[in-house]
Amino acid sequence: MAIVHIENLVKRYGSHIALDHVDLDIGEGEILGLLGPNGAGKTTLIHALAGIVGFDSGEITVFGKEQQKNLMDIKRQIGLVTQEITLFTDLSARENLEFFGSIYGLKGEKLKDRIDETLALVGLTENANKLPTKFSGGMQRRLNIACALVHQPKFLIMDEPTVGIDPQSRNHILETIRKLNEQGTTILYTTHYMEEVQSLATRVVIMDQGHVIADGTMQELVNKIQHEEKIKLEVSEPSDELLEKLRKLEGVKQVFMHRKEIYIISQVGAGNLDRTLTVAKDLGGILSVAAEKPTLEDVFLTLTGKRLRDREED
Ligand SMILES: Nc1ncnc2c1ncn2[C@@H]1O[C@H](COP(=O)(O)OP(=O)(O)O)[C@@H](O)[C@H]1O
Ligand SMILES: [Mg+2]
Repeated sequence: MAIVHIENLVKRYGSHIALDHVDLDIGEGEILGLLGPNGAGKTTLIHALAGIVGFDSGEITVFGKEQQKNLMDIKRQIGLVTQEITLFTDLSARENLEFFGSIYGLKGEKLKDRIDETLALVGLTENANKLPTKFSGGMQRRLNIACALVHQPKFLIMDEPTVGIDPQSRNHILETIRKLNEQGTTILYTTHYMEEVQSLATRVVIMDQGHVIADGTMQELVNKIQHEEKIKLEVSEPSDELLEKLRKLEGVKQVFMHRKEIYIISQVGAGNLDRTLTVAKDLGGILSVAAEKPTLEDVFLTLTGKRLRDREED
């Protein structure tokens, strides 16, 4: 079941078109990774979805209901972690959670229980009575995430929650997302770190310049751009006989030697790794073997002709 349906969404800032006829569905139980470089329109899309900014044309349905007519009801069932951390610096961690919980109508024992649960989930139980100003950036982000979770939303939206955060907190956050998802929470996760999307997301949507340019599982996206499988093989005694045998394997398009390494290029889906190893074991003595896998970076590069981000940026 789709819990979000977005069709033909257009959002302009003056003459600049930030969302250019975007279509997007999010299925219940997914971790959808929304990937794109800075300025792609990720935040604008999330804000339109969560009802924080309006839009010029198109349709948004959330939980099967038209978003604009049911905004309050929808907002109660969504958790939003914005790109900028939003916390009260003069309230303790627990008091911040009390505030956000009470906005959603929680009180008494129920509120207290939820606060204890979310503090434990983000690993801040020991620091509940401290002010967030005493926290590291990563701890502040974890508290910020807890604030978006205290009312137990079934749909959590996170906007680049790991930017500029120490690796330990980053891993903790990624684990928290996995845990929530296992418990049934649907997650929309934006980032410009493709490694996070690769390890976390069940489906990937890539945006660039206000457009959705790709949508599918990792495997589907990679298949889309990939026409070949490449195996790199190192053997102790490369011979012409070995090269000939490799060339005769099904689906093999090309076999060549470079220094002491043999490269076997096959059609996509040929699955030649097993057969390559069998042939090479008999004839050459295998020293090493590697099947080179394309990454999301390759997908992005192929679709847009540019790199996802400059190396210097992170
Ligand atoms: N409030 C705003 N006013 C004018 N332009 C904006 C505003 N917010 C975003 N934009 C522009 O819209 C585009 C998309 O921005 P944004 O949604 O923040 O992208 P992302 O989150 O992918 O980095 C950018 O070109 C940005 O400069
Ligand atoms: Mg953004």
